[in-house]
Amino acid sequence: MMTETQINELVKQLFDGIEFTREPAGLYDPLRYMIAIGGKRIRPRLCLTAYSFFSDQIDEGILAPASALEVFHSFTLMHDDIMDRSPLRRGMPTVWKKWNEDTAILSGDVMLIDAYQRIAKAPRAVLDRVLALFSRTAAQVCDGQQFDMEFEGVPEVSMEDYARMIGLKTAVLLACSAAMGALIGGASEAECAALYQYGYELGMAFQVADDYLDAFGDEKVFGKPIGGDIVNGKKSWLTVRALEKTPDKAAFLSAFALPADTPEQKAAKIAAVKDIYLRLGVDADAKAEIVRFTQRAMDAVSGAGFSPLKLETLHRFAERLVGRAK
Ligand code: IPE
Ligand code: IPE
Ligand code: MG
Ligand code: MG
Ligand code: MG
Repeated sequence: MMTETQINELVKQLFDGIEFTREPAGLYDPLRYMIAIGGKRIRPRLCLTAYSFFSDQIDEGILAPASALEVFHSFTLMHDDIMDRSPLRRGMPTVWKKWNEDTAILSGDVMLIDAYQRIAKAPRAVLDRVLALFSRTAAQVCDGQQFDMEFEGVPEVSMEDYARMIGLKTAVLLACSAAMGALIGGASEAECAALYQYGYELGMAFQVADDYLDAFGDEKVFGKPIGGDIVNGKKSWLTVRALEKTPDKAAFLSAFALPADTPEQKAAKIAAVKDIYLRLGVDADAKAEIVRFTQRAMDAVSGAGFSPLKLETLHRFAERLVGRAK
């Protein structure tokens, strides 16, 4: 089994040395830019962590699929930033802002193809299952993104519908990352299923944390503009919980419907909505929800026969996500 430090070093080397097609530069430069500006690289780390529970052999059969998860994730972000009109990603201008929308669409498309080419390098013995898992997940992410967009246009979303939406847009990819590492490592079906569930619950915690940080994070650390979800009328965890909790739904909905065209209007709307969040205490509720999902992640693996060292590794991985500020 590899240590955390070894896995982090491996992931660093993997992306420092990653090669993409060079020409035409207008298509591949944005792709290189997205990968070079980095990010937390949680998905390949989770994949390699799960893999290392079952195998010590580090070769293309695992490294290529692990990198595919990050390339795929970065592709979804490139398109997500167009959809969310977001100017900043990983502390840098987004691709559609730095280049233009057409570039971000086509470079995103080619990243999805690149991800499939990397996935196809999984060992033959498990390739069918890896491809099926990845393709199902990729389609689910699109489903989730569509629900996310549709929810902008409705006044209220239930917690159940919200959970389904983030389960699709975010949690399934973490689930897939953990399960894919296990599958390639030679885990049993039960072990893969337990790690899938662990990744899923962790992904739920992760998206609630993302929603929390979108309103209450520090832009310099978070690397994305604070208040973007409020400006866009996103049904974030905070919004859904506020609507459940508020004694004055009309007041919340009118703050949430304030115009946000000019910078002044944006700032005023963000301040008004955050003020209600704070008065209702949904910020603290979100933190409790993150802890609850993290506990569920540990529950998913605690009865699956993993050694104390493996459980401790999974626990630490989860704890760092809960405490994240970016
Ligand atoms: C951002 O993902 C999108 C969500 C699913 C919340 P990350 O927070 O993993 O983004 P990077 O890759 O570290 O930039
Ligand atoms: C993104 O959700 C999920 C996917 C890209 C699939 P968000 O829209 O909240 O992600 P950020 O906040 O822009 O990273
Ligand atoms: Mg989005
Ligand atoms: Mg977004
Ligand atoms: Mg977000």
